[in-house]
Amino acid sequence: MGSLFDFMLPELKSPMTGASTDALMAFIHIVSFIILAGVTIAMIYFAIKYKRRSDDDKTPLITHNNKLEVTWSVIPLLLVFIVFGWGYKGWLNLQTPPDNAYEIQVSAYKWGWTFSYENGAQVGNEVHVPAGRPVKLVMQSQDVLHSFFVPDYRIKQDVLPNRYTSVWFQAEEPGESQVFCTEYCGTSHSDMLAKVIVHTPEEFDTWLSQQNTGGGGTPAERGENLISVQGCVTCHSQDGSELIGPSFQGLWGSERNFENAGSVTADENYIRESILEPSAKIVEGYQNQMVSYEGRLSDDDISDIIEYIKTLEE
Ligand code: CUA
Repeated sequence: MGSLFDFMLPELKSPMTGASTDALMAFIHIVSFIILAGVTIAMIYFAIKYKRRSDDDKTPLITHNNKLEVTWSVIPLLLVFIVFGWGYKGWLNLQTPPDNAYEIQVSAYKWGWTFSYENGAQVGNEVHVPAGRPVKLVMQSQDVLHSFFVPDYRIKQDVLPNRYTSVWFQAEEPGESQVFCTEYCGTSHSDMLAKVIVHTPEEFDTWLSQQNTGGGGTPAERGENLISVQGCVTCHSQDGSELIGPSFQGLWGSERNFENAGSVTADENYIRESILEPSAKIVEGYQNQMVSYEGRLSDDDISDIIEYIKTLEE
C-alpha cells in the first residue's frame, strides 16, 4: 500500500508483527472512503433530482423497501466479519511469539524502563536487540500501569504491577526505534521514553559481552541461590524426585492439573502466583503445606527464581 498511508504511521520495521496491521488499516480506510464517496455522490444527485419544483409537488409516502434494507444490512455485516476475522488473526499472531525468540526482561517504573539480559546485564531506557531474530519482552511494572508502545513495530502492550505481560517483534535491519509509554502514569508520563537499538547479530553479541553484569551473577544464578537461602529446596527438588511439593525440574512450560482449579500451562504468572498465593492452585496429588512468600521475596527475586526454574528442563 506504501506511500498512500505514509502520513499516518512511520515506516514499518517489524513486518512479522506489523504487516497484517498495516494491511487491515489500509483495507478499512479504502472501504470507508468508497462508502463515504458513494453516500456523498448519491446525496448530491438526489438533492438535485428530487428538488421541489412547484408548490403542488408532493413527496410520496414510502413505508419500506425490503430489497434495499437487506442489501444495506448484509453488506456492512460481511465487512464487519472480514475486519473481525482479519483482526483476530493478527491478534493471535501478536499473542504467540516464535519459540526461538530471544528473551529480555522489562521492568517499568515512574518514569523509566529497565531492560535485563540473561547474563545479568541491566540497561536503562535502551533496549539492544539483534536484527533478524524474534525478540520477546517479558514485562512487569514496579508501581502503576504503564504501556509499552513501539510505533515502528506496530506493537503496544500494557505493563502491569503484580503480573507479567509480554510482547514480541522482529526488527529486520539495524537501526533505532522510539519507545513510548502509552498509559497515563503521572507527572512525567510523557518523558517515559526509551529506544530500541537494533544491531547485527555479531555486533549484538559483542555489545552484550561488554556490559557490566554487576558481579551479582546472572538472574538464573541469583534465583538458584535464592531458592536455597529461602528454603524452597526443602520441599521442592531440582532433579524430579518427590518431596513435600512438586519438583522444579520440568515445571516450566508443563501442563499442571489441580485438585481445586482445572489446569494451566506453567508460565511466569502461574509461578508468581504459586509463590505469593500457594493455596490458589494445588497440584493434583499434593496437599497445601506452603506458606506465602509475600513480603519475603521482592518482584526482582521472584523474576530471578522464575529464570532459574526455566533452566531446569526435564
Ligand atoms: Cu509510564 Cu505513562
